[in-house]
Amino acid sequence: MNLHRRTFLMSSTGAALMAQGGAPVATAVIGTGNRGAYLLSGVLEQANAKVAALCDIKPDRLDKAATAAGKHNPRTYTDWRKIIERKDIDAVFVATPPHLHAEMAMAALQSGKHVYCEKPIGVTAAQVRDLVKVAKGSKKVFTAGQQMRSYKHLQEAIGKIRGGAIGDVLWVKAQRHGTADLDHDGPSKDWYFDVTKSGGYLIEMSVHNLDLCNWAIGSRPVKACGFGGIQLYKNDPAGRTIFDCGTISYDYANGVKMSFTQNVFHPRTLPGGGQYVYVYGSKGAADLIGAPTLHTLGRDGKSSPLAAKGEEERHAHIAAFYDAVTKGAASPADVTVGATAALTAILGHEAMTRQAVVNWKDLGVDVG
Ligand SMILES: NC(=O)c1ccc[n+]([C@@H]2O[C@H](COP(=O)([O-])OP(=O)(O)OC[C@H]3O[C@@H](n4cnc5c(N)ncnc54)[C@H](O)[C@@H]3O)[C@@H](O)[C@H]2O)c1
Repeated sequence: MNLHRRTFLMSSTGAALMAQGGAPVATAVIGTGNRGAYLLSGVLEQANAKVAALCDIKPDRLDKAATAAGKHNPRTYTDWRKIIERKDIDAVFVATPPHLHAEMAMAALQSGKHVYCEKPIGVTAAQVRDLVKVAKGSKKVFTAGQQMRSYKHLQEAIGKIRGGAIGDVLWVKAQRHGTADLDHDGPSKDWYFDVTKSGGYLIEMSVHNLDLCNWAIGSRPVKACGFGGIQLYKNDPAGRTIFDCGTISYDYANGVKMSFTQNVFHPRTLPGGGQYVYVYGSKGAADLIGAPTLHTLGRDGKSSPLAAKGEEERHAHIAAFYDAVTKGAASPADVTVGATAALTAILGHEAMTRQAVVNWKDLGVDVG
């Protein structure tokens, strides 16, 4: 963060809080489903936060959240715009389905609220473009729910890659393979299988993996090509429009090449499943998922720990958001990080959908 931005932030709620002797940040959570409930538990653990409002269109989820936050006595809403209208709310967490994120986050920022917005911050390039513009023009904190950015072991591992531990970064192979499709009768079935709402697996889930790849590579893609489709779960559930597998090649601005695959039908007993991010360099490679390890090139190549993976603080990303709001600290995943991650996924999705090489510049978003 540059000095100007720091001063900027300190002049808003941070300074106001200090003047008030550290009044807790009045916080609202919009979308109190699976993730919203988890975020709410994190907000409740913060000494400098107070849950002032909760919103969900599903009464059972709203009631559950209101009970969990009972000690703060929040008001409950089914219409999220009522929260935006409240002048006494300082910060909003957005944990609704992905297609609603950009609209809600922009409205909150424009009404003077700090925003923690779940990933992906948008499912289309236009949504990301509009949100970037509003967030960059705002004096408020914006944090994307890319919580890996707050993992200490990844900060350490990527710091070492930057420091030359594997030499020059050349090539990345990464994947997110699942052993099953998302539950067809689960609580998110009303939006997940509709590509216009979730964006599909790549945009909704692999945005985490792709963000880690971008972070490790220290750059962003300039183009992508790929193929994807519905190979197993055809019209299952009925009306399904999201792919169940895909393979994408990315070419990065700094020349690094990446291969990424995704599926939801990797048998449990078949080797090579799960998630991995292998970063290859001129002196060796780093394996970033799990306990990061370093593997050196050559006949006598050896493996050794790249970073210690201790227990990560459960709500470190949320605590970092409040540090940004109250102390002017840097947002752990600002709008540039959130937008770059979302656009990397959108670029891959577009390439698979159009079956063509798609250029980053054609997405029409200036992430800065
Ligand atoms: N950062 C992470 O690791 C992580 C993990 C899980 C989910 N997520 C993200 O969190 C978001 C929510 O996922 P989830 O698993 O909680 O889904 P979910 O279906 O369990 O919850 C979404 C909630 O939003 C509510 N909602 C829908 N429209 C609304 C509206 N107009 N106003 C208010 N509430 C509305 C739904 O009723 C539901 O309760 C998604 O974007 C997902 O990608 C992030």
